[in-house]
Amino acid sequence: MKVKDIRQSFFDFFNTNNHKIVSSAPMVIKDDPTLMFTNAGMNQFKDYFLGNKEAAFKRVYNSQKCLRVSGKHNDLEEVGKDTYHHTMFEMLGSWSFGDYFKEEAIDMAWKYLTEVCKLDKSDLYVTVFEGDKKDGIAFDQEAFDFWKKHIDEDRIINGNKKDNFWEMGDVGPCGTCSEIHVDLRSAEEKAKTSGKRLVNEDHPQVVEIWNLVFVQFNRAKDGKLSALPNRHVDTGMGLERLAMALQKKESNYDTDVFAGLIEKVVSTTKHTYGKDEATDIAIRVIVDHIRAIAFSIADGQLPSNKEAGYVIRRILRRAVRYAYSYLNYKEPLLFQLVPTLINEMGDAFNELKAQSSLIEKVIKEEEQTFLKTLDKGIQKFDAYVKEGHQAVTGKFAFELYDTFGFPIDLTQLMAEEQNLTVVMSDFTAALEEQKNRSRKAAEMDKEDWTFVNDSTTVDFVGYDQLEVNTAVQRYRAVSQKDKTFYHVVLDQTPFYAESGGQAGDKGILKIGNEEIPVFDTKKENDLIIHFVKKLPLEPNAAVTAIVNENRRRLANSNHSATHLMHHALRTILGDHVEQKGSFLNDEYLRFDFTHFAKVTEEELTEVESIVNKEIQAAIQLEDHRAMAIDDAKSMGAMALFGEKYGDVVRVVKFGNSVELCGGTHVANTSSIGLFKFTNETAVAAGVRRVEALTSAKALTFLNNKAEDLDTIKEKLKHPKNIVQGVDQLLEENNKLKKQLEAYAKQEGESLKEDLLKSVENINGTNFVAYKLNGVKADIVKDLAFQVKSKVDNLFLILGNEAEGKATITIAISDELAKEKSLHAGNLVRELAKEIKGGGGGQPFFATAGGKDPNGIENALEKAKAIITENISMA
Ligand code: SER
Repeated sequence: MKVKDIRQSFFDFFNTNNHKIVSSAPMVIKDDPTLMFTNAGMNQFKDYFLGNKEAAFKRVYNSQKCLRVSGKHNDLEEVGKDTYHHTMFEMLGSWSFGDYFKEEAIDMAWKYLTEVCKLDKSDLYVTVFEGDKKDGIAFDQEAFDFWKKHIDEDRIINGNKKDNFWEMGDVGPCGTCSEIHVDLRSAEEKAKTSGKRLVNEDHPQVVEIWNLVFVQFNRAKDGKLSALPNRHVDTGMGLERLAMALQKKESNYDTDVFAGLIEKVVSTTKHTYGKDEATDIAIRVIVDHIRAIAFSIADGQLPSNKEAGYVIRRILRRAVRYAYSYLNYKEPLLFQLVPTLINEMGDAFNELKAQSSLIEKVIKEEEQTFLKTLDKGIQKFDAYVKEGHQAVTGKFAFELYDTFGFPIDLTQLMAEEQNLTVVMSDFTAALEEQKNRSRKAAEMDKEDWTFVNDSTTVDFVGYDQLEVNTAVQRYRAVSQKDKTFYHVVLDQTPFYAESGGQAGDKGILKIGNEEIPVFDTKKENDLIIHFVKKLPLEPNAAVTAIVNENRRRLANSNHSATHLMHHALRTILGDHVEQKGSFLNDEYLRFDFTHFAKVTEEELTEVESIVNKEIQAAIQLEDHRAMAIDDAKSMGAMALFGEKYGDVVRVVKFGNSVELCGGTHVANTSSIGLFKFTNETAVAAGVRRVEALTSAKALTFLNNKAEDLDTIKEKLKHPKNIVQGVDQLLEENNKLKKQLEAYAKQEGESLKEDLLKSVENINGTNFVAYKLNGVKADIVKDLAFQVKSKVDNLFLILGNEAEGKATITIAISDELAKEKSLHAGNLVRELAKEIKGGGGGQPFFATAGGKDPNGIENALEKAKAIITENISMA
């Protein structure tokens, strides 16, 4: 079975069993501070498990794009070295939200694997939780009994907390689990060692394929488990591993999931797969990582130097470095794999197809940049080796790692080639220290929630109201970077929480006699969290929550203007313009979008003019708070790649601009007042960024410009036409510059004549000592060389006083310097003392500078004395 047929058969099976399909959530998570990437199919359902939200369907299934490269579930360092871990993988999942539990989950999994996939029962093993005293959970007898209906007792293995208690993170929904493992070894090997002994022992052919989690607890920060309101099932099966089992391969990389990509790497780099372990690892790393990178970019996450973007950049660099070191391929390679990847996965994941050229361009540029950095690092390493070190110090290895992105094994490899070793203990210590520093900086230590009342849901009323009477629902203390502040959740709130690029509201909470400022508002799943520096003295008292109206009004303006601008950009530049990022607050707006050239001044002016016309046209907001997603799409609303939309969405419409949006807006475009671009730059290959201002800020910006113009006008003595005035000034300036150059040339000529006239013959040596006044340094140098070229056997010393400082220049004919062992550099150093300064240079030419022009005459005399003595001695 081909991988696409396997995916389909899973879908068909659960469909027949009364499950509904849900679409894969984006792989890159936005608006959740606790998780950067989707690492399991269940992430998007967390609120159903916690009881914060009611699921529309109680039985669902999907294939979820997952990435396990950070946090609790991180496989990055394994990837490529073994044959069955991946950064990005597809997880086939099925769920019951408070519907069926262990028995049906086990029955269905067994039926699918043995009847649909026709896996041999004698190759399967299952695990059940052995129990844990500390958590107070007993052996999972139920699961054991249900499995016994299908499989010999002998094939049911007890598993520990690490393998058989699944947790999404350090806190949150969790539960015991049962895994299904498959033994794919040859009959011969099976005869030698029982598969049972190899389950969960990291054997590449005895692998877990499906995990059935029985979600029934919530883990609190203090480690305690509490029962969830309902019991749920969450299952996840690695599609790539299932393909390995069904296609009877020894490695995930031998399945049709990776075959095309491997072929492409092999043909491009002229290497063979399957002959040499180091080469094979490199190829596996590359074909694995290209999927993670391409899918992240398709989800709107470009490589960058912070947060999720940095993780993607590190994955990309890991792949480039493997190609560089082990395939000896020193040009961009990954971007060349994109068409193959799209050919294979583009049908199942349309986002790849739709953004192919952006994905290629971004990857290629990242590769080029990193290859340059690698080159610089290698030069640095070569220079280090030439210095003759006995070993590569940990400090130097860390510098290569930190500044040039060199992973330590690359440094070790290069050191080995030079018969050097790396002092690993020092390197590890430096790395640890850095990790601790950044962990401390980023760590947000959250206490568990303290609940004040029974309600668990939050009602956002901030589209219509900026002030509301409400109550504290829960609060907790949070510490970050040695500072403590508090999170407060209200039952009802007018505060907009940061999301969709719009910054969170600020304002105050009036509680009892207190007024507590809210300095930010953010979201955590569906909770709206108010950030405050102190807790109310009486959390139970009535609360009036008041949003800072002025800030909100400005943010509304910036948000609505972003929509108008987005639409105008598409009108002027074309439909290829797609939003790639957006930020706005009460100060300004910023918008990133796909476009492959710089946006010209004219284009920006056209966009500005469209937006300003729409502002003047006073277009009324059409706010569709709850519309079926399909209706929204037929209305023309464009869904963004990498965003998660529910079945019911909010549509914000101003004339022709129709967007799916949860943000806050003006009621009428006329409130925006004015729109003005302030900046246009590149963010990445094929992604441009514009920044703009609206209303009062735009006006201030323009006023400042007008004021600058007035100042210029004044300085130019009020010309009739200011541009002509400036042109005239520039023209005059040019003329004067040319005149000055001509004068300088003339002056140089006449000085040269003077110098030539002043040549004095001291015993056959042509000696010149001359004091100049206010001559520019380059002219002095020029003079010295001109005289040197005209006069043989020359010793020339020039003093110069310019802007209160003194310089000395010495030029000596080459033969004279050699014959009489004269060294201009040494002489000038000696003479510089006279002018209270220092200097040096070549035997034939040297300069010195000092702060005492009064010493120039002395220096010249001293030079004469030295020369006279030197020459007469010879
Ligand atoms: N959440 C479980 C896992 O990731 C099952 O889907 O293994």
